Amino acid sequence: MSELVFDHVTVRYGHHTAVDDVSLTVPSGQVVGLVGESGSGKSTLAATAVGLVPVTSGRVLADGKVQMVFQDPYSSLDPRMSIGGSISEAVPRGIDRRAEVARLLELVNLDPARAKALPLKLSGGQRQRVALARALAARPEVIVADEITSALDVSVQGAVLNLVRDLQRQLGLSMLFISHNLAVVRYVSDRIAVMKNGAIVEEGPAERVLADPRHPYTRELLAAAPKRHTRLEVS
Ligand SMILES: Nc1ncnc2c1ncn2[C@@H]1O[C@H](COP(=O)(O)OP(=O)(O)OP(=O)(O)O)[C@@H](O)[C@H]1O
Ligand SMILES: [Mg+2]
Repeated sequence: MSELVFDHVTVRYGHHTAVDDVSLTVPSGQVVGLVGESGSGKSTLAATAVGLVPVTSGRVLADGKVQMVFQDPYSSLDPRMSIGGSISEAVPRGIDRRAEVARLLELVNLDPARAKALPLKLSGGQRQRVALARALAARPEVIVADEITSALDVSVQGAVLNLVRDLQRQLGLSMLFISHNLAVVRYVSDRIAVMKNGAIVEEGPAERVLADPRHPYTRELLAAAPKRHTRLEVS
């Protein structure tokens, strides 16, 4: 079992309340999509899950290792280190690093023969695959993915989303998947939570939230999102 539970979490930056009494559970083996406009507090909430931002009050409970994947695969990888080296650093002690790096690269559909390549030689989508492999190296039970396709070309977003969904199912990961883009969130999520001004205004099974939104802000987001027939391009 590997739930991630936010229990009445509040985060203040000075007098500004970025996260306001949020209670949210990511059930074991499920993907909760967290959607909301810029500045609504999504990244701040995510950062509390890995201790990057301290909570002002409330608590975050996880009964497994939590790893985070960030938006920008350009700044999250050391440009001077080979991609294999970056992944290798994250492999726990006592495991054959070379074999593990090869396994992880294969897992994210990259050729293990490229382990010695520098990030510079890779496309944005490939770098984001390396960032995923690096996160998975620590054998997490829970992944927090913050806007991981937002910096990518639309043409490769679908492939990365497919990979994320496949890996989540294959490895039985619990995942908090954050995006300001409802079209992206609905592609991967079992449940959807909607955040506005630091608070969760609506949360429920993805189909229910999409088919029968109860909060006016959710309806606004749905009206602004691409229509169902203009589906994300997924290969
Ligand atoms: N380190 C910080 N110090 C002070 N204020 C901050 C800090 N980080 C975020 N904020 C503020 O907290 C609020 C929530 O920011 P946050 O980055 O969590 O939103 P977000 O939903 O992730 O937005 P985006 O969609 O743009 O990534 C914003 O008003 C932001 O300006
Ligand atoms: Mg953010």
